[in-house]
Amino acid sequence: MRDSRLILLALLVCVAVPVRGDDLTPVQTLGKTLFYDGSLSLNGDQPCVTCHSPTTGYSGPDGVVNGSGAVYEGSVPGRFGNRRPPTAAYAAQAPVFHHTFEDGEVLFVGGAFLDGRATGHLVGNAAADQAEGPFLNPLEMALPHAACVVQRVCNPESPDLYPVKLTDIWGGDICAISFPEGLAAQCADANAEITIEDEDTADRISVAFTAIAQSLAAYEMSPEMARYSSKYDQYLDGEAVLTAQEDLGRELFEGKALCSQCHVTGRGPNGEPPLLTDYTYDNLGVPRNPDLPYYAMAAVNPDGTDYIDRGLGDFLRKDPIYDVLAGGQDGKFKVPTLRNVSAGATPEAPRSYMHNGYFKTLEGVVKFYNLRDVWPRCASDLVPEADALAQHCWPGPEVAANVNGDELGDLKLTEDEELALVAFMKTFTDQ
Ligand code: HEC
Ligand code: HEC
Repeated sequence: MRDSRLILLALLVCVAVPVRGDDLTPVQTLGKTLFYDGSLSLNGDQPCVTCHSPTTGYSGPDGVVNGSGAVYEGSVPGRFGNRRPPTAAYAAQAPVFHHTFEDGEVLFVGGAFLDGRATGHLVGNAAADQAEGPFLNPLEMALPHAACVVQRVCNPESPDLYPVKLTDIWGGDICAISFPEGLAAQCADANAEITIEDEDTADRISVAFTAIAQSLAAYEMSPEMARYSSKYDQYLDGEAVLTAQEDLGRELFEGKALCSQCHVTGRGPNGEPPLLTDYTYDNLGVPRNPDLPYYAMAAVNPDGTDYIDRGLGDFLRKDPIYDVLAGGQDGKFKVPTLRNVSAGATPEAPRSYMHNGYFKTLEGVVKFYNLRDVWPRCASDLVPEADALAQHCWPGPEVAANVNGDELGDLKLTEDEELALVAFMKTFTDQ
């Protein structure tokens, strides 16, 4: 099984050589079709792009949702997950999940999802591991089995929908699968228990499902999703000049405000453009989002409003080797790229920030980094951002353990300096 996945990976590398400009390679075109194909969700209504829209830097596009619970409803009405959609662009650049040591402490790096649980250990590519997740997540696209995804991609509702077909890229045999009778009908039921008895069929489904995920990952790496065309990129190329405020923000970002300790700036050793993350994990002490719809999802969340998202810690707890290290990683989430962090945001239709979407403004985020340990605790831990900013207080952290007190909390920035940081982050928007 593993071997066939590796052969697929090798094939992907051969076909993924980018062509000039914004042109997509054939495999990227296929990935794009998959990214936009709503028929790959239970009720035919939820392609990837509903939660990862180009209008908002490939994160959630709905200002009303972002302004409150920040989590998007899945294909099954009334079902919500526990996190907001981060950007899906530049995500495919993440290294495979691994650990290193720094100052005698174990440091986790890489992987996809905010807790790294799509490790990339299956096919050597975290984004491809990740892309298998949403199709089958009952709180997202909600299909009951990988066979449903594969059957729908191999036999699209309308052949015109797929200008490049799975078989064009991955070989004529990739769809040579004898799907069990009645599968299509079973796939319409989110609770169907589907088992593929025949081993060869099961294997073929698995290989085709991986090819679908690899195609999505190829699109995520494409010059359409990873454009590297922001004002900041142009500035690094000597083709744009930052305003005085943006340049002050850059200086602070790389200096006094310590942002680049985690959101790495500047070019890499071989001139690579920065991704504004080091792919490590941290607990910033972000408060709970009082509007999280997950709190009311009794069927999947028995804890109600006491539910706590422990991020990396909870993922490690399920791993036989890393289990013992879980406690030291509770509350940590992956450092996100800040590319396109303000794209599409308006005062009326905000974006949301952090794993649970607690913050709705970059101004609020920066104020939190600056004054987390300076303002007093709010009377309640369930105070939304706008009220906290008005009352000059912060709710307690979602996870009190492992909060980073070295690099944030009391940065001694003036209000003008806070605004300069925001102005600088706005130069990260692709053109
Ligand atoms: C219902 C909304 C929804 C849909 C539909 C959806 N996603 Fe996501 N996506 C999310 C959420 C929420 C997360 C963060 C989940 C987590 O970390 O546990 C996420 C995470 C990701 C990430 C990881 C980003 C990172 O930094 O690690 C990528 C990449 C991604 N999604 C791509 C996709 C693709 C490809 C599809 C379609 C196959 C898809 N998503 C469908 C909501 C959605
Ligand atoms: C110690 C590492 C670290 C430092 C230093 C740091 N960040 Fe972050 N940043 C993170 C992590 C981790 C997250 C995600 C936390 C979460 O989801 O709970 C994050 C999230 C963000 C987000 C939200 C992005 C999104 O899509 O949700 C913004 C904006 C941001 N940081 C800006 C900054 C700025 C500005 C500074 C400097 C004042 C800074 N960061 C310093 C680690 C760091």
